[in-house]
Amino acid sequence: MPLRLDYTNMMAPSIPGGITDAEWREAAARFTAAHAAVAEQHRAGTLGFLDLPGDRALHQQTLNYVQGCRERGSYPTDVVVLGIGGSALGPIALRTALRPPQWNLLDDAAREGNPRLHVLDNVDPANIVALLARLDLRRSLFIVTSKSGGTAETMSQYLVVRARLAEALGDAAARQQIVFVTDPAKGALRTIARAEGIPALDIPSNVGGRFSVLTPVGVLPAALVGIDTAALLAGAADMRERCASPALAGNIAGAFATLQFLADTAHGRHVQVLMPYSDALRDMADWFVQLWAESLGKHRSAGDAGVGPTPLAALGATDQHSQVQLFMEGPADKTVTFMSVEQGAYDVEIPTMHQDVPELAYLGGHRLGELLDIERRATAGALARRGRPNMTLSLARVDAFAVGGIFMFLELATAYAGHLYGVNAFDQPGVELGKQFTYAMLGRADADAARKEWDQLPKPDPARII
Ligand code: PA5
Repeated sequence: MPLRLDYTNMMAPSIPGGITDAEWREAAARFTAAHAAVAEQHRAGTLGFLDLPGDRALHQQTLNYVQGCRERGSYPTDVVVLGIGGSALGPIALRTALRPPQWNLLDDAAREGNPRLHVLDNVDPANIVALLARLDLRRSLFIVTSKSGGTAETMSQYLVVRARLAEALGDAAARQQIVFVTDPAKGALRTIARAEGIPALDIPSNVGGRFSVLTPVGVLPAALVGIDTAALLAGAADMRERCASPALAGNIAGAFATLQFLADTAHGRHVQVLMPYSDALRDMADWFVQLWAESLGKHRSAGDAGVGPTPLAALGATDQHSQVQLFMEGPADKTVTFMSVEQGAYDVEIPTMHQDVPELAYLGGHRLGELLDIERRATAGALARRGRPNMTLSLARVDAFAVGGIFMFLELATAYAGHLYGVNAFDQPGVELGKQFTYAMLGRADADAARKEWDQLPKPDPARII
């Protein structure tokens, strides 16, 4: 079963105050224009993420590298991704979705000889120190992932790791434990790779960080830990085909984007929750949050108030004991998109015991997967009953083909939403000033202007510090 979207509970009259048929019909024309604009950008060569499923040469580059590791007899026991944001969240989502639970805790036999996968995604020294202390550096491979090749967090991770490797193994051996994933031509990592003969795989120049999971950013760690990357890319290709139609009714990513856009701009639903009922998909929700937030939260023109929905990640059934209270009775400013999986990889029958205890007796004989799914339906129904709009994405199972499809679905939805909102979904000017201030405080040579701006900011007022 391909990915399906049931949006009954987004619409009036199912949801009083929901999206009306008239709004939906009107939005169809807007979507067709957004679809045409995405196609035009693609023709102009700026939307490289759409070409990734068919880029055999790029896929082969990863497969050759992995094969080379095997042939050299240097296959790692641990793979560590150094990166942040779009360079880290994809590998995390892939590991959680497509490797068995507790992957890094399994022994070699249970991992079928595949390495553990660690993703740093931050510069908190506590985590980095703990990880480096635990690794056998001679059998660890460090993937330094940065599209720009200059992100402060990733470069710092790299410098720490490179120095530690050199200290432990010597500099020549250290280079054998490192691979870069970066822009094919530009940036400091590419320069270092050329100068020192460090292998470097390509992120095509027309693919931005948060749209790069189907480049070696995600595909290399996935292939190293034994994920079927051909199926991953095939699923993405299939989804791209499914979204070829400019008609809203026939385009699942377009429908998702348009529903969220209408809910936000016409119905005050500014917060958009993605809530998988599957531990395997929990990190996919974090990946979506970054994609949706960094792509759509923008000024339309200089100085305007800014637009964009606020994405939020939740997990069923866990968040039924947490955020769902807010979704049910808090401000009526949210949509919830549930993700359901028809066939979990595992299931467990709940034993029939304590038949004289009513709080336990009714559970016996059901299955945990059944309970999870019933709870999702119950929560969706309860939200609908309270007039809270929600929709459900369903997939048959969490496998590489389906996961590739979900990545492409959400990337395409983001591209369409960018046009619906009238913003450029592919830049991130809003994070630039903070970066410049960081450079200024760390003394980067080209940060004089930022230093002056920083110095003019109000200083902490002792009267306002408690
Ligand atoms: O989506 C984006 O562009 C960002 O989140 C980047 O992925 C993040 O800033 C890391 O950038 P880079 O890959 O250039 O190191």
